[in-house]
Amino acid sequence: MLIDTYGRVATDLRVSLTDRCNLRCTYCMPEEGLQWLAKPDLLTDDEIVRLIRVAVTQLGVGEVRFTGGEPLLRPGLVSIVERCAALEPRPRMSLTTNGIGLQRTARALKDAGLDRVNVSLDTLRPEVFQTLTRRKRHQDVLDGLEAARAAGLDPVKVNAVLMPGLNDDEAPDLLAWAVRNGYELRFIEQMPLDAQHGWTRDGMVTAGDILATLRTRFDLTPEGDEVRGAAPAERWLVDGGPARVGVIASVTRPFCRACDRTRLTADGQVRTCLFAREESDLRGALRAGEPDEEIARLWKLAMWGKKAGSGLDDPSFLQPDRPMSAIGG
Ligand code: GTP
Ligand code: 5AD
Ligand code: SF4
Repeated sequence: MLIDTYGRVATDLRVSLTDRCNLRCTYCMPEEGLQWLAKPDLLTDDEIVRLIRVAVTQLGVGEVRFTGGEPLLRPGLVSIVERCAALEPRPRMSLTTNGIGLQRTARALKDAGLDRVNVSLDTLRPEVFQTLTRRKRHQDVLDGLEAARAAGLDPVKVNAVLMPGLNDDEAPDLLAWAVRNGYELRFIEQMPLDAQHGWTRDGMVTAGDILATLRTRFDLTPEGDEVRGAAPAERWLVDGGPARVGVIASVTRPFCRACDRTRLTADGQVRTCLFAREESDLRGALRAGEPDEEIARLWKLAMWGKKAGSGLDDPSFLQPDRPMSAIGG
Protein backbone atom coordinates (compact mmCIF):
# COMPACT_ATOMS: atom_id res chain seq x y z
CA MET A 1 0.00 0.00 0.00
CA LEU A 2 1.24 3.50 -0.82
CA ILE A 3 0.35 5.38 2.35
CA ASP A 4 1.64 8.78 3.38
CA THR A 5 2.20 10.35 6.77
CA TYR A 6 -1.26 11.96 6.64
CA GLY A 7 -2.95 8.59 6.18
CA ARG A 8 -3.84 9.12 2.53
CA VAL A 9 -3.52 6.06 0.33
CA ALA A 10 -2.44 6.39 -3.30
CA THR A 11 -4.46 4.05 -5.51
CA ASP A 12 -4.34 6.20 -8.65
CA LEU A 13 -1.14 6.19 -10.70
CA ARG A 14 -0.42 8.78 -13.41
CA VAL A 15 2.27 7.72 -15.82
CA SER A 16 3.87 10.25 -18.16
CA LEU A 17 4.90 8.45 -21.34
CA THR A 18 6.78 11.33 -22.95
CA ASP A 19 7.52 14.98 -22.22
CA ARG A 20 7.10 15.92 -25.89
CA CYS A 21 4.06 17.51 -27.42
CA ASN A 22 2.81 18.49 -30.85
CA LEU A 23 1.02 21.59 -29.54
CA ARG A 24 2.49 24.63 -27.85
CA CYS A 25 -0.30 25.81 -25.53
CA THR A 26 0.72 29.23 -24.28
CA TYR A 27 -0.14 28.31 -20.67
CA CYS A 28 2.17 25.32 -20.89
CA MET A 29 5.27 25.87 -22.96
CA PRO A 30 7.08 28.41 -25.15
CA GLU A 31 6.84 28.49 -28.94
CA GLU A 32 10.23 26.83 -29.40
CA GLY A 33 9.31 23.87 -27.16
CA LEU A 34 11.48 22.69 -24.28
CA GLN A 35 14.70 20.81 -23.69
CA TRP A 36 13.22 17.33 -24.24
CA LEU A 37 14.42 14.29 -22.32
CA ALA A 38 17.04 12.27 -24.20
CA LYS A 39 15.96 8.85 -25.47
CA PRO A 40 18.26 6.81 -23.19
CA ASP A 41 16.81 8.63 -20.19
CA LEU A 42 13.25 7.58 -21.02
CA LEU A 43 11.88 4.42 -19.51
CA THR A 44 11.51 1.70 -22.12
CA ASP A 45 8.11 0.10 -22.70
CA ASP A 46 9.26 -2.93 -20.72
CA GLU A 47 10.37 -0.75 -17.81
CA ILE A 48 7.04 1.11 -17.80
CA VAL A 49 5.02 -2.10 -17.79
CA ARG A 50 7.19 -3.52 -15.04
CA LEU A 51 6.69 -0.47 -12.80
CA ILE A 52 2.94 -0.55 -13.42
CA ARG A 53 2.94 -4.27 -12.61
CA VAL A 54 4.69 -3.59 -9.30
CA ALA A 55 2.21 -0.79 -8.53
CA VAL A 56 -0.81 -2.91 -9.35
CA THR A 57 0.23 -6.27 -7.93
CA GLN A 58 2.18 -5.13 -4.85
CA LEU A 59 1.15 -1.60 -3.99
CA GLY A 60 -2.63 -1.48 -4.33
CA VAL A 61 -2.87 0.77 -7.36
CA GLY A 62 -6.20 0.22 -9.14
CA GLU A 63 -6.32 3.05 -11.64
CA VAL A 64 -3.66 3.92 -14.20
CA ARG A 65 -3.75 7.09 -16.30
CA PHE A 66 -1.37 7.64 -19.18
CA THR A 67 -0.32 11.24 -19.72
CA GLY A 68 2.42 13.22 -21.44
CA GLY A 69 3.42 15.69 -22.84
CA GLU A 70 1.24 14.08 -25.43
CA PRO A 71 0.97 10.33 -24.78
CA LEU A 72 -0.23 9.53 -28.32
CA LEU A 73 3.28 10.47 -29.48
CA ARG A 74 4.63 7.39 -27.71
CA PRO A 75 4.91 4.65 -30.35
CA GLY A 76 4.41 1.83 -27.84
CA LEU A 77 1.21 3.21 -26.27
CA VAL A 78 -1.23 0.60 -27.60
CA SER A 79 1.02 -2.26 -26.63
CA ILE A 80 1.65 -0.79 -23.17
CA VAL A 81 -2.12 -0.61 -22.64
CA GLU A 82 -2.55 -4.15 -23.89
CA ARG A 83 0.12 -5.51 -21.57
CA CYS A 84 -1.31 -3.65 -18.58
CA ALA A 85 -4.79 -4.98 -19.36
CA ALA A 86 -3.39 -8.47 -18.89
CA LEU A 87 -2.26 -7.76 -15.32
CA GLU A 88 -3.99 -9.43 -12.40
CA PRO A 89 -5.86 -7.59 -10.98
CA ARG A 90 -6.59 -5.66 -14.13
CA PRO A 91 -6.25 -1.91 -13.46
CA ARG A 92 -8.76 0.57 -14.86
CA MET A 93 -6.98 2.54 -17.55
CA SER A 94 -7.47 6.01 -18.95
CA LEU A 95 -5.63 8.48 -21.13
CA THR A 96 -5.27 12.27 -21.02
CA THR A 97 -4.52 13.58 -24.49
CA ASN A 98 -4.76 16.65 -26.68
CA GLY A 99 -6.72 14.46 -29.10
CA ILE A 100 -4.43 14.81 -32.11
CA GLY A 101 -4.09 11.36 -33.65
CA LEU A 102 -6.92 9.91 -31.60
CA GLN A 103 -8.97 9.57 -34.75
CA ARG A 104 -6.50 6.92 -35.91
CA THR A 105 -5.87 5.18 -32.59
CA ALA A 106 -9.10 5.33 -30.55
CA ARG A 107 -10.36 1.95 -31.77
CA ALA A 108 -7.01 0.20 -31.22
CA LEU A 109 -6.74 1.70 -27.75
CA LYS A 110 -10.23 0.53 -26.84
CA ASP A 111 -9.49 -2.94 -28.19
CA ALA A 112 -6.24 -3.01 -26.21
CA GLY A 113 -8.22 -2.40 -23.00
CA LEU A 114 -8.31 1.36 -22.47
CA ASP A 115 -11.47 2.27 -20.55
CA ARG A 116 -11.81 6.01 -21.00
CA VAL A 117 -10.21 9.19 -22.24
CA ASN A 118 -9.90 12.88 -21.32
CA VAL A 119 -9.28 15.25 -24.20
CA SER A 120 -8.05 18.82 -23.82
CA LEU A 121 -9.99 21.38 -25.82
CA ASP A 122 -10.11 24.99 -24.72
CA THR A 123 -12.15 26.57 -27.49
CA LEU A 124 -14.66 25.92 -30.26
CA ARG A 125 -13.19 28.68 -32.43
CA PRO A 126 -10.42 27.55 -34.79
CA GLU A 127 -8.68 30.92 -34.75
CA VAL A 128 -8.63 31.05 -30.94
CA PHE A 129 -7.34 27.45 -30.93
CA GLN A 130 -4.48 28.56 -33.13
CA THR A 131 -3.65 31.49 -30.85
CA LEU A 132 -3.80 29.29 -27.75
CA THR A 133 -1.91 26.26 -29.06
CA ARG A 134 0.15 27.91 -31.82
CA ARG A 135 -0.91 25.13 -34.21
CA LYS A 136 -3.70 24.70 -36.79
CA ARG A 137 -5.06 21.41 -35.46
CA HIS A 138 -8.53 22.27 -34.20
CA GLN A 139 -10.37 19.93 -36.55
CA ASP A 140 -8.02 17.05 -35.63
CA VAL A 141 -9.07 17.40 -32.00
CA LEU A 142 -12.78 17.44 -32.87
CA ASP A 143 -12.28 14.36 -35.07
CA GLY A 144 -10.36 12.65 -32.29
CA LEU A 145 -13.17 13.30 -29.83
CA GLU A 146 -15.75 11.80 -32.14
CA ALA A 147 -13.59 8.78 -32.80
CA ALA A 148 -13.20 8.24 -29.05
CA ARG A 149 -16.94 8.22 -28.56
CA ALA A 150 -17.50 6.01 -31.60
CA ALA A 151 -14.93 3.53 -30.29
CA GLY A 152 -16.91 3.16 -27.07
CA LEU A 153 -14.47 4.89 -24.73
CA ASP A 154 -16.79 5.97 -21.94
CA PRO A 155 -16.99 8.55 -20.55
CA VAL A 156 -15.25 10.98 -22.88
CA LYS A 157 -14.29 14.01 -20.82
CA VAL A 158 -13.16 17.35 -22.18
CA ASN A 159 -10.71 19.55 -20.26
CA ALA A 160 -10.78 23.29 -20.85
CA VAL A 161 -8.41 25.84 -19.36
CA LEU A 162 -9.83 29.36 -19.57
CA MET A 163 -7.49 32.27 -20.26
CA PRO A 164 -8.62 35.87 -19.61
CA GLY A 165 -9.37 37.77 -22.78
CA LEU A 166 -8.84 34.71 -24.98
CA ASN A 167 -11.53 32.14 -24.30
CA ASP A 168 -13.07 33.00 -20.92
CA ASP A 169 -16.19 34.33 -22.65
CA GLU A 170 -16.71 30.91 -24.23
CA ALA A 171 -17.56 28.87 -21.15
CA PRO A 172 -21.35 28.71 -21.78
CA ASP A 173 -20.88 27.87 -25.48
CA LEU A 174 -18.43 25.14 -24.60
CA LEU A 175 -20.87 23.69 -22.10
CA ALA A 176 -23.81 23.78 -24.53
CA TRP A 177 -21.63 22.03 -27.13
CA ALA A 178 -20.42 19.38 -24.67
CA VAL A 179 -23.94 18.62 -23.44
CA ARG A 180 -25.16 18.30 -27.04
CA ASN A 181 -22.35 15.90 -27.89
CA GLY A 182 -22.44 13.83 -24.71
CA TYR A 183 -18.98 14.85 -23.48
CA GLU A 184 -18.37 15.59 -19.81
CA LEU A 185 -16.82 19.06 -19.71
CA ARG A 186 -14.50 20.21 -16.93
CA PHE A 187 -13.09 23.69 -16.59
CA ILE A 188 -9.62 23.87 -15.06
CA GLU A 189 -8.11 26.76 -13.17
CA GLN A 190 -4.72 27.58 -14.59
CA MET A 191 -1.96 26.41 -12.24
CA PRO A 192 1.57 27.79 -11.84
CA LEU A 193 3.18 24.95 -13.75
CA ASP A 194 4.03 26.65 -17.04
CA ALA A 195 7.60 26.38 -18.25
CA GLN A 196 7.79 30.15 -18.71
CA HIS A 197 6.79 30.89 -15.08
CA GLY A 198 4.27 33.40 -16.39
CA TRP A 199 1.40 32.47 -14.07
CA THR A 200 -0.11 35.11 -11.80
CA ARG A 201 -3.05 34.78 -9.46
CA ASP A 202 -4.62 37.91 -10.91
CA GLY A 203 -4.26 36.67 -14.46
CA MET A 204 -6.21 33.53 -13.73
CA VAL A 205 -9.89 32.72 -14.29
CA THR A 206 -11.19 31.35 -10.98
CA ALA A 207 -13.82 28.70 -10.28
CA GLY A 208 -16.00 31.52 -8.92
CA ASP A 209 -15.72 33.41 -12.23
CA ILE A 210 -16.48 30.27 -14.24
CA LEU A 211 -19.55 29.33 -12.21
CA ALA A 212 -20.91 32.88 -12.35
CA THR A 213 -20.55 32.93 -16.16
CA LEU A 214 -22.14 29.51 -16.56
CA ARG A 215 -25.08 30.48 -14.34
CA THR A 216 -26.01 33.23 -16.77
CA ARG A 217 -27.21 30.42 -19.09
CA PHE A 218 -27.59 27.25 -17.03
CA ASP A 219 -29.08 26.13 -13.78
CA LEU A 220 -26.34 24.35 -11.79
CA THR A 221 -26.95 22.11 -8.78
CA PRO A 222 -24.00 20.76 -6.78
CA GLU A 223 -23.52 17.04 -7.04
CA GLY A 224 -22.19 16.77 -3.50
CA ASP A 225 -19.08 15.39 -1.80
CA GLU A 226 -20.39 11.83 -1.49
CA VAL A 227 -20.09 11.33 -5.25
CA ARG A 228 -16.87 13.25 -5.61
CA GLY A 229 -14.60 10.86 -3.77
CA ALA A 230 -10.97 11.72 -4.43
CA ALA A 231 -11.55 13.39 -7.79
CA PRO A 232 -10.06 16.86 -8.28
CA ALA A 233 -13.22 17.93 -10.15
CA GLU A 234 -16.24 19.29 -8.29
CA ARG A 235 -19.32 18.61 -10.36
CA TRP A 236 -22.67 20.24 -10.94
CA LEU A 237 -25.80 18.89 -12.61
CA VAL A 238 -26.66 21.02 -15.62
CA ASP A 239 -30.32 22.09 -15.78
CA GLY A 240 -31.29 19.26 -13.45
CA GLY A 241 -29.10 16.60 -15.15
CA PRO A 242 -28.21 14.05 -16.27
CA ALA A 243 -25.54 16.21 -17.96
CA ARG A 244 -22.80 17.40 -15.61
CA VAL A 245 -20.09 20.00 -15.63
CA GLY A 246 -16.94 19.89 -13.53
CA VAL A 247 -14.58 22.51 -12.23
CA ILE A 248 -11.04 21.62 -11.20
CA ALA A 249 -10.15 24.46 -8.88
CA SER A 250 -6.69 23.46 -7.75
CA VAL A 251 -5.85 27.05 -6.85
CA THR A 252 -8.95 28.44 -5.14
CA ARG A 253 -10.57 25.22 -3.84
CA PRO A 254 -7.77 22.66 -3.49
CA PHE A 255 -8.64 19.08 -2.69
CA CYS A 256 -5.29 17.86 -1.43
CA ARG A 257 -6.78 16.35 1.75
CA ALA A 258 -8.35 13.55 -0.28
CA CYS A 259 -5.53 13.13 -2.78
CA ASP A 260 -5.10 9.50 -3.86
CA ARG A 261 -2.36 10.01 -6.45
CA THR A 262 1.16 8.99 -7.18
CA ARG A 263 3.04 9.87 -10.36
CA LEU A 264 5.78 8.50 -12.56
CA THR A 265 7.69 10.75 -14.94
CA ALA A 266 8.79 9.54 -18.36
CA ASP A 267 12.32 9.17 -17.00
CA GLY A 268 11.27 6.98 -14.11
CA GLN A 269 11.02 9.34 -11.14
CA VAL A 270 8.25 9.05 -8.58
CA ARG A 271 6.53 12.34 -7.81
CA THR A 272 4.16 12.41 -4.88
CA CYS A 273 2.40 15.59 -6.02
CA LEU A 274 2.15 17.86 -9.07
CA PHE A 275 3.82 20.52 -6.94
CA ALA A 276 6.41 18.32 -5.23
CA ARG A 277 9.94 19.65 -5.17
CA GLU A 278 11.49 16.23 -4.62
CA GLU A 279 11.53 13.14 -6.82
CA SER A 280 12.61 9.58 -6.11
CA ASP A 281 14.50 7.65 -8.73
CA LEU A 282 13.13 4.23 -9.71
CA ARG A 283 14.87 4.03 -13.07
CA GLY A 284 18.26 3.71 -11.39
CA ALA A 285 17.00 0.82 -9.28
CA LEU A 286 15.44 -0.88 -12.32
CA ARG A 287 18.63 -0.56 -14.31
CA ALA A 288 20.75 -1.74 -11.38
CA GLY A 289 18.81 -5.01 -11.54
CA GLU A 290 16.92 -4.60 -8.27
CA PRO A 291 14.03 -7.04 -7.71
CA ASP A 292 10.36 -6.00 -7.60
CA GLU A 293 10.36 -6.03 -3.79
CA GLU A 294 13.06 -3.36 -3.71
CA ILE A 295 11.23 -1.21 -6.29
CA ALA A 296 8.09 -1.49 -4.16
CA ARG A 297 10.04 -0.54 -1.03
CA LEU A 298 11.52 2.56 -2.70
CA TRP A 299 8.10 3.63 -3.97
CA LYS A 300 6.56 3.30 -0.50
CA LEU A 301 9.42 5.26 0.96
CA ALA A 302 8.89 8.02 -1.62
CA MET A 303 5.22 8.35 -0.65
CA TRP A 304 6.25 8.84 2.95
CA GLY A 305 7.61 12.22 1.85
CA LYS A 306 4.30 13.41 0.37
CA LYS A 307 3.43 16.86 1.68
CA ALA A 308 0.02 17.83 3.07
CA GLY A 309 -0.82 19.97 0.07
CA SER A 310 0.39 21.91 -2.92
CA GLY A 311 1.73 24.76 -0.80
CA LEU A 312 0.26 27.23 -3.31
CA ASP A 313 -0.96 29.51 -0.56
CA ASP A 314 2.34 29.61 1.32
CA PRO A 315 4.20 32.89 0.91
CA SER A 316 7.33 30.83 0.25
CA PHE A 317 5.70 28.79 -2.56
CA LEU A 318 8.14 27.87 -5.31
CA GLN A 319 7.08 26.38 -8.62
CA PRO A 320 8.55 22.89 -9.20
CA ASP A 321 11.54 22.70 -11.54
CA ARG A 322 9.73 20.45 -14.00
CA PRO A 323 6.93 22.05 -15.97
CA MET A 324 3.50 20.45 -16.28
CA SER A 325 4.32 18.83 -19.62
CA ALA A 326 7.15 16.85 -18.04
CA ILE A 327 5.18 15.86 -14.92
CA GLY A 328 2.09 14.58 -16.68
CA GLY A 329 -0.59 16.93 -15.38
P1 GTP B 1 -10.55 11.89 -13.94
O1 GTP B 1 -10.24 10.68 -13.16
O2 GTP B 1 -11.06 11.55 -15.32
O3 GTP B 1 -11.45 12.86 -13.25
O4 GTP B 1 -9.17 12.58 -14.22
P2 GTP B 1 -8.46 13.90 -13.76
O5 GTP B 1 -9.33 15.06 -13.89
O6 GTP B 1 -7.89 13.68 -12.45
O7 GTP B 1 -7.29 13.93 -14.84
P3 GTP B 1 -6.87 14.82 -16.06
O8 GTP B 1 -5.62 14.20 -16.57
O9 GTP B 1 -7.97 15.01 -17.03
O10 GTP B 1 -6.50 16.19 -15.44
C1 GTP B 1 -7.38 17.27 -15.36
C2 GTP B 1 -6.71 18.39 -14.58
O11 GTP B 1 -6.58 17.99 -13.23
C3 GTP B 1 -5.32 18.76 -15.09
O12 GTP B 1 -5.15 20.14 -15.10
C4 GTP B 1 -4.43 18.12 -14.06
O13 GTP B 1 -3.23 18.81 -13.92
C5 GTP B 1 -5.27 18.27 -12.81
N1 GTP B 1 -4.86 17.30 -11.81
C6 GTP B 1 -4.69 15.98 -11.98
N2 GTP B 1 -4.27 15.41 -10.82
C7 GTP B 1 -4.17 16.42 -9.94
C8 GTP B 1 -3.77 16.50 -8.58
O14 GTP B 1 -3.40 15.53 -7.94
N3 GTP B 1 -3.78 17.71 -8.00
C9 GTP B 1 -4.16 18.82 -8.68
N4 GTP B 1 -4.14 19.97 -8.02
N5 GTP B 1 -4.55 18.80 -9.94
C10 GTP B 1 -4.55 17.62 -10.56
N1 5AD C 1 -2.79 24.70 -15.38
C1 5AD C 1 -3.90 23.93 -15.46
N2 5AD C 1 -4.09 22.99 -16.38
C2 5AD C 1 -3.12 22.83 -17.26
N3 5AD C 1 -3.03 21.98 -18.29
C3 5AD C 1 -1.83 22.18 -18.88
N4 5AD C 1 -1.14 23.15 -18.27
C4 5AD C 1 -1.93 23.57 -17.26
C5 5AD C 1 -1.79 24.56 -16.26
N5 5AD C 1 -0.71 25.33 -16.16
C6 5AD C 1 -4.08 21.03 -18.61
C7 5AD C 1 -4.15 20.63 -20.05
C8 5AD C 1 -4.75 19.25 -19.98
C9 5AD C 1 -4.47 18.76 -18.59
C10 5AD C 1 -3.61 17.56 -18.49
O1 5AD C 1 -3.86 19.84 -17.92
O2 5AD C 1 -4.95 21.49 -20.80
O3 5AD C 1 -6.14 19.27 -20.17
FE1 SF4 D 1 0.85 19.91 -25.08
FE2 SF4 D 1 -0.77 19.54 -23.02
FE3 SF4 D 1 1.18 21.32 -22.83
FE4 SF4 D 1 -0.85 21.82 -24.52
S1 SF4 D 1 -0.98 21.60 -22.24
S2 SF4 D 1 1.36 22.07 -24.98
S3 SF4 D 1 -1.39 19.83 -25.20
S4 SF4 D 1 1.44 19.13 -23.00
